[in-house]
Amino acid sequence: MKEKLAKIKSMAEEALGSAKTLDTLEELRVKFLGKKGELTAVMKGMGALSPEERPKIGQLANEVRDFIGTALDEQKEKLLAAAEEQRIKDETIDVTIPGNRPKKGGKHPLTSVLDDLKDIFIGMGFSIVDGPEVELDYYNFEALNIPKDHPARDTQDTFYINDNVVLRTQTSPVQVRTMEKQKPPIRIISPGRVYRSDAVDATHSPVFHQVEGLVIDKGITMADLKGTLELFAKKLYGENTRLRFRPHHFPFTEPSAEVDISCFNCGGEGCRICKGEGWIEILGCGMVHPKVLKNCGIDPDVYSGFAFGIGLERVTQFRYDVTDMRLYYENDVRFLSQF
Ligand code: DAH
Repeated sequence: MKEKLAKIKSMAEEALGSAKTLDTLEELRVKFLGKKGELTAVMKGMGALSPEERPKIGQLANEVRDFIGTALDEQKEKLLAAAEEQRIKDETIDVTIPGNRPKKGGKHPLTSVLDDLKDIFIGMGFSIVDGPEVELDYYNFEALNIPKDHPARDTQDTFYINDNVVLRTQTSPVQVRTMEKQKPPIRIISPGRVYRSDAVDATHSPVFHQVEGLVIDKGITMADLKGTLELFAKKLYGENTRLRFRPHHFPFTEPSAEVDISCFNCGGEGCRICKGEGWIEILGCGMVHPKVLKNCGIDPDVYSGFAFGIGLERVTQFRYDVTDMRLYYENDVRFLSQF
């Protein structure tokens, strides 16, 4: 029996020493000390011993049980300590490692200039309205005094959904939609996409952007138009900017004008950007034609107003010196991240 106990002790010592997990430890505890364990089996056999031997073996068995118990506790502590050490290692943060900088997006140049433009007009009391890009021929042309056979349609050829529905060629139809809905005084701008069946090149795109403006009230004159546009241009291109109004023709305004700003680069001397002209064309405008007012149910004898249409790509081009319009739409991050 002595040998048996000694064997249990040495087996337990070896098994416990190499136990790697708490689960294994628990299995070993059951195996050696449990009710059906090896030590219990020995103790159960003690009845057969002689009265002299019994206390000796009993003492030895107790010693072996204590030994195994202590060894179990020690191994358990070792495993727990090792686990804790590993946890600390895993959770350690090296604060000296350089971080991964998140890539920051930015506004598209057209959006950024449009935002500035909106701020300027909101500052003058304008509100912003939206209009549909798929538009009735009536709003895009007819109501704006451009009947079916009018030559002005030639320069604004577009994509026809059917005879009466087109992709709008200009933001001007929003003027009509607004006047139909709202009684004067009206002071709105309407930015948006417009479409023309033009081939893509450096200065043309089948899709581009305009910002329409419309002011209708009693006693509005060309002086109001000039004052408004002058303030706009000075805010966008600087205090020294001068405006030049050139007579022009638009079917929906009378009189009509195209507006140039003095070149922000050379101040009017003539340079590469203004192609030696000293002036840069940025928009079309005029006093709303009485026929258009009538088409919208507004009495031209009581009310008058002005309208303008700004080319967003043009305005942006001169803000950032971008000479090829295609760059705006290619979504090349190397281009876009410069703004
Ligand atoms: N819609 C015109 C165009 O696309 C621009 C324009 C000119 C708009 C004069 C206006 C305006 O409101 O009064 O060429």
